Amino acid sequence: MRATEDLVREHEDIRVMLRIAQEMSLRLTRGEMVDAAHLEQAIEFIQNFADKYHHAKEEDLLFPALEEAGFPRGSGPVGVMLAEHDEGRGYVRAAAEAIAAYKAGDASAGLIIAANIRNYAGLLDQHIEKENQALYPMADNALSEVQQRELRVSFDLTNSRPEAVRSYERLQAILHELREIYIGSK
Ligand SMILES: [Fe+2]
Ligand SMILES: [Fe+2]
Repeated sequence: MRATEDLVREHEDIRVMLRIAQEMSLRLTRGEMVDAAHLEQAIEFIQNFADKYHHAKEEDLLFPALEEAGFPRGSGPVGVMLAEHDEGRGYVRAAAEAIAAYKAGDASAGLIIAANIRNYAGLLDQHIEKENQALYPMADNALSEVQQRELRVSFDLTNSRPEAVRSYERLQAILHELREIYIGSK
């Protein structure tokens, strides 16, 4: 299986979490309470699965391979993807800070959490679309057979590290639990 197919599959999980987070955001905007532990779990998933696990594979493995194939890191499609990862981190940081205030009893922080979640989900959704529709097909075409094989081996190594496996299992459990609570069978 191509390395980019792993990334497309991970996008599906990230998109489920975006739907959960948007539901949380909607409830907060309506002035409803959302369990702070659930908000923290959503952030944990985003920081550890979407960012550390998925974006790290793109930034540390796929993008350097693309650079070797002639796509510079500082501009063009790879540059845009990197800038969007950074923009997303900013929203997640702001949401995490607001969650700490919300937990400490500042109810007005709910709207700040909601706004940052909305911005993050909107950004990530179109980012994922661009990667699925344009960047990954471009990588599949541009990377040599050898590069594809090397990427496959590096991805498998990253996925099989014991701490990655443990963290993956915990994050999948969070995803399924929150999905049940916030999306149900919708
Ligand atoms: Fe990305
Ligand atoms: Fe991605």
